[in-house]
Amino acid sequence: MNLCNDCFLRLFSRRVDKIVKRYMPKQGIWVALSGGKDSMALLHYLWEREYEVTAYHINLGIGDYSNRMEKMIRDYTTNLGIELVITNLRKEYGFSIGDIRKKPCSACGTVKRYLMNKVPRENGAQILATGHNMDDFLEFFTKNMLGKNYSWNRKLVPYLPAEHPKLLPKIRPFYLVGDREIEIYARIKNIVYSEEKCPLAKFSGWKEIFYEIEKKKKDFRYQMIRSVWDMSSFFPEERVKLRECKICGEPTSRDICAFCTLREKYTKDDQKF
Ligand code: AMP
Ligand code: FES
Ligand code: ZN
Repeated sequence: MNLCNDCFLRLFSRRVDKIVKRYMPKQGIWVALSGGKDSMALLHYLWEREYEVTAYHINLGIGDYSNRMEKMIRDYTTNLGIELVITNLRKEYGFSIGDIRKKPCSACGTVKRYLMNKVPRENGAQILATGHNMDDFLEFFTKNMLGKNYSWNRKLVPYLPAEHPKLLPKIRPFYLVGDREIEIYARIKNIVYSEEKCPLAKFSGWKEIFYEIEKKKKDFRYQMIRSVWDMSSFFPEERVKLRECKICGEPTSRDICAFCTLREKYTKDDQKF
């Protein structure tokens, strides 16, 4: 669509507000920041609308990349006057993603899911907001369908209520806007973010395919995500019973949670538990 800046901003806000106005509480909002465009734009969006937010960042210990992200996030939140909480994985838990040779991205996912729930909750958060956007969800949906993991599609929604007293509800305010819209928004608003990709991330190519389709089928991505949202409740429920990890007490479907398993495997002996 060819829109002037004002019309673009109006359309962007209308799509984000569809989620924010419906699900966002007034207080206790923690925004998880990676340093990329999505989460930095999300923080700015909420800050501009005077939501009371706390920023949260995990330094995952991926070489200098993680230190550059941390520094940029520190500077940006200081400029906006937003409180920032940082967890340094190596310093606090004795291992880092940079140390992991086998499937580091999967371990990284485990660490992020665990800490983004535990740390904000222990510090009074009522909800966790992440920068996941429409294109991320379209990619998850496509992969879930191809891998026949139908039940995982139940989670591809803009708001996930807490399934356990120790799990925070999750909100994804950018559910109805994608990479390209957020890039334009960040440019108009002069939002500081890093274009650097994580050095461990693998290129999937799915997003480029969605944009190719959209060249021929106008509004393809928006129409698809609306359908994914509508359909989510039709997918089968996962029958996992959550209990508490025998080591750390956090919610898990196993005896020992995935985070404690990683910790046990990668923490050097002198720093173990
Ligand atoms: P990703 O898993 O990298 O696609 O990121 C998805 C969302 O998770 C981001 O938009 C952030 O809200 C959050 N996130 C990713 N990495 C971090 C991090 N190191 N610290 C805090 N939040 C993060
Ligand atoms: Fe997790 Fe790159 S950010 S492996
Ligand atoms: Zn545990």
